[in-house]
Amino acid sequence: MKPTAASEEIAERPDPSASHNDGIAEEDNSIPVWFNASFLATIVFAVVYVIYYVVMGWTSRGQYEAEVAAAEAIAATARANLPTTNPYHGDAAAIAEGQQVFAQICAACHKPDATGLVGPSLVDPYWKYGHTDAELFQTVMEGRPGGMPPWGAQLGSEKVWRALAYLETLPKSDAPGVGAPDFAPAPTPTPPGS
Ligand code: HEC
Repeated sequence: MKPTAASEEIAERPDPSASHNDGIAEEDNSIPVWFNASFLATIVFAVVYVIYYVVMGWTSRGQYEAEVAAAEAIAATARANLPTTNPYHGDAAAIAEGQQVFAQICAACHKPDATGLVGPSLVDPYWKYGHTDAELFQTVMEGRPGGMPPWGAQLGSEKVWRALAYLETLPKSDAPGVGAPDFAPAPTPTPPGS
């Protein structure tokens, strides 16, 4: 063994009286204020949290459910306040505006006279989704699965009501539309005994 190696080993032994070893100094600084403050803050937080969670029974799920219930209540009132009848029956100015909407948007699929193209005829007596004001309004606002796009976001309820008011003024026709029939006419009942 080389004597130098042995003396190096001795030099590396920790000296209890030294304030630093291996070049790392250990000082006796006081704990920084920010550290103590954050430590105390965690304790305060824990107390508040326990009061909220255990004593008052708060849960994030409960808060979520309460918020959903509140939002649903607002949506329900909004739905209830929607007009269920067309406010523009026979209103000439509104019908003129509805005619423009129909020509710009609906005519492409339903034909300008609404006898049907890609979309079904809207002047025949056959309705797949019903033809009360509320049903027609829902069809146009929300769309239908067979290829009728929703128009609520683009047109808004006012323009949709006006387009529907215009639709009422179009001459009725029993001729089936060019597109797929919206609803097969009921078969003529055979008189009994024939
Ligand atoms: C992109 C083509 C297209 C456009 C544009 C379009 N429709 Fe339609 N519409 C359809 C199709 C296709 C159907 C059939 C949907 C089905 O059977 O599910 C339909 C169905 C309907 C129905 C229901 C008919 C029934 O028998 O119940 C109404 C009412 C209607 N459209 C009104 C309108 C109005 C009003 C507009 C203009 C705001 C419009 N549509 C624009 C394609 C269109």
